[in-house]
Amino acid sequence: MNTPRIIDGKAAAREVLAAVKHEVEMLCAEGLQPCLAVVLVGNDPASRVYVRNKVERCAEVGICSIEHLLPADIDQATVLALIADLNADPRVNGILVQMPLPKQIDEAAVIQAIDPRKDVDGFHRENVGALSLGQPALYPCTPSGCMYLLNQVLGDLSGKHAVVVGRSNIVGKPMAALLLQANCTVTVLHSRSVDAPRLCREADIVIAAVGRPQLINADWLKEGAVVIDVGINRIAEADRTRLVGDVDFASASQKAAAITPVPGGVGPMTIAFLLQNTVRALRQQLSVPGAHHAL
Ligand code: GUN
Repeated sequence: MNTPRIIDGKAAAREVLAAVKHEVEMLCAEGLQPCLAVVLVGNDPASRVYVRNKVERCAEVGICSIEHLLPADIDQATVLALIADLNADPRVNGILVQMPLPKQIDEAAVIQAIDPRKDVDGFHRENVGALSLGQPALYPCTPSGCMYLLNQVLGDLSGKHAVVVGRSNIVGKPMAALLLQANCTVTVLHSRSVDAPRLCREADIVIAAVGRPQLINADWLKEGAVVIDVGINRIAEADRTRLVGDVDFASASQKAAAITPVPGGVGPMTIAFLLQNTVRALRQQLSVPGAHHAL
């Protein structure tokens, strides 16, 4: 019977957060406390939980957070005006607008309105472009967290065949760019891929980020694959709901050498890297004259 290593995302996130906390202490000693502005529009229950977790983690590592809670029926011009204020506010180092936004708001327009130096999600085209060129920038948090876990399990990733299942702007595409930068051979699978399970069976590394509950099972995997599950799906069971990933954990465990659980795998890493990006944003602003109140 195969017994995979269960990759402990909570423990890895604690390591990253401890390093961030240390950095924040050093910055605070110079009178530079990092500050993250978090914008939540509407009352989506999942988004409210995510935002609450982000604000709590900020407090734990000593980052100042400012919450802006906006009503669900707000218009686009008001949201853009708030972004402009936050861009201009020298106390604010990072801006996070929780997605998804209500349908009257153009998400792409909001993302591009954020000053790229404060774009701690790494979604602005300037940061996306820098990532694809392999230049330093603010990189998306979830893919950064996945890379941290992969480096922990495998060390050097050179020459590994990585298959990314899903091509979202938030995870799939930046994930592929980071894996390529780490010298992997990268395949991206999506809804139009022909015989995805067969292609996935070639993978040394599988990143599941499609948003389809338990899609990837043992039939998609080669023996010894390392499986990173980015999915967070709430499914209904007899009398309650349960969180599952995009991977069928029990089935995939028959073949994987290592696998992330849901919850407790990639999830905690996303917040840890958001806070790391907030510190990185402050440091970047310090090195650009005029971008921060301390200069
Ligand atoms: N909604 C789901 N994931 C994310 C994320 O990584 N960033 C933001 N801003 N919203 C999200």
